[in-house]
Amino acid sequence: MSDIEPVQRQFGRIAAAYVESATHARGEDLDRIVTLAREHGGDRIVDVGTGVGHTLRRVAPHFRGALGVDATREMLEAGLAVLAGASIANALLVQADARALPVPSGSVDVVTSRLAAHHFADAPAAFAEIGRVLRPGGLFVLVDNYAPEDPALDRFINELETLRDPSHVRNHTVARWSALVEGAGMRAVVDSDVLVTKLDTESWMARSRTPPDRAAEVRRRLAGASRGRSRRSGSPRQPSRSTS
Ligand SMILES: C[S@@+](CC[C@H](N)C(=O)[O-])C[C@H]1O[C@@H](n2cnc3c(N)ncnc32)[C@H](O)[C@@H]1O
Repeated sequence: MSDIEPVQRQFGRIAAAYVESATHARGEDLDRIVTLAREHGGDRIVDVGTGVGHTLRRVAPHFRGALGVDATREMLEAGLAVLAGASIANALLVQADARALPVPSGSVDVVTSRLAAHHFADAPAAFAEIGRVLRPGGLFVLVDNYAPEDPALDRFINELETLRDPSHVRNHTVARWSALVEGAGMRAVVDSDVLVTKLDTESWMARSRTPPDRAAEVRRRLAGASRGRSRRSGSPRQPSRSTS
C-alpha cells in the first residue's frame, strides 16, 4: 500500500462534506491567505492539497493562472463544481502527490497550502517540492493546525485527531512547522495572528464519518480532559508564511 492511500481512501468517501463545510468554505484564515497572496502578486499560483478548491477559488482571480493539486480524485471532481459555481475560468485541477508537483522548477510566484499538510505522509519531501517549484523570491503560505509545545497536550490533540480520522499524520508544533519549512530551504515567518477556529465536536466527526466506537472514545477523552487542557488543545490554525 502506498503511503497516500489512507488519505485517498478517507477523502474519497467524504468529498461532498467538504463542499458544504463552513470551516473550509469560509474563515479568517482564508481571507488572510488571499491578502498575503495578493500583496505578493505574480502570474502563477499553485494550491497544494487543494481539496474541493475553497482556497483556489478565492486566490485564482488575483493571478493569471492557478493550479490546484490534490491526491484524491473525488475531492478534485467535487472541486470542478466549486470552481464553476464561483465562475473561475483560469484554474486547473490536477491529481498528484504533493511530493511530485507537475510544475517546472522556479516557475511559480505563490504556493498556498491550507489545512492539508497535517495529512502529508512525508511533509519534508512535500515542502522541498514546494521550494523547488517556487521562483526565487516566491511566497509559500502555509495554514495548518498546530500542537501545543507541552508534549502531553501535543499527544492528546494528535491522538484525538487520529481517532477521528485515521489519515491524520501530525499536527506539529509551530516550532516544528517552521523547522520543516526552513529545512526545505525557505525562510519561515510565523504570522502574528494565531487564528482560533471553534469546532463543534459532533459535526467535526460527522464530516470525517468517524466510526461510532472511535467517536465514543473522542467524546470520552474530551469529557475527561481538564479545563486548561481542553481550552489549549483545540485546533487553532496557524498561518505562517515563508519566502524562498
Ligand atoms: C482538508 S482537505 C484540504 C482543504 C482545502 N485546502 C481547503 O482550503 O478547503 C485535505 C486535502 O489534502 C489532500 N492531501 C493529503 N495528502 C496529500 C498529498 N500527499 N498530496 C496531495 N494532496 C494531499 C487530501 O486529498 C485532501 O483533499
